[in-house]
Amino acid sequence: MVLQKASWLAVLGFSIVATSLLLVQIGFIFARKKNYKNHYKVMASALLLNTLFLITYVTRVLTNDETSFPGPENVKIYFYYPFLLVHIILALVVIGWIFTFVPQTIKQKRMTSDGAPYFEDKEFRKLHRKRGFIAYIMWTISFAMGIIIFFMLYVINWS
Ligand code: HEM
Repeated sequence: MVLQKASWLAVLGFSIVATSLLLVQIGFIFARKKNYKNHYKVMASALLLNTLFLITYVTRVLTNDETSFPGPENVKIYFYYPFLLVHIILALVVIGWIFTFVPQTIKQKRMTSDGAPYFEDKEFRKLHRKRGFIAYIMWTISFAMGIIIFFMLYVINWS
């Protein structure tokens, strides 16, 4: 992979997003397989990585470590900017969604003696499944878009 002018913070952010995307897929598979002990561990790790990513992102904004699109002007206007806008809106919605849904989940969870979480409240169980599925879909799309943006900025050779 040829990286063109990517700062170490950009590469770090990319690695965190890629790992987090992978963890969310694994966490979802664990939930579907009813392995809630590992589901919890993997989702909690993905959330931790998300927080780390936000720190790297804010640092980049504060230090002006941002890159403008290096490709042709028409691709920039008709594809890159709309794509970036959808990504940013979705990412903000995901952050808001996750940071309201997860504290509630943690508050409601009880633990079995072997360390697997469960919810006593039947209604909350349904709600977590529903909200968790929405979070999973939005998270996956928004992070996958972030990875495509990284490729457009640093990997694709536009010349
Ligand atoms: C971090 C704290 C979390 C805990 C303690 C937790 C725990 C659980 C538990 C106990 C269930 C089973 C519910 C049932 O009895 O039906 C479950 C299901 C589920 N969780 Fe989580 N979860 C967490 C985070 C997440 C996150 C962040 C997501 C999404 C990104 C998520 C997505 C799901 C989904 C989609 C299901 C339903 C799977 C299915 O349809 O079989 N969870 N979770």
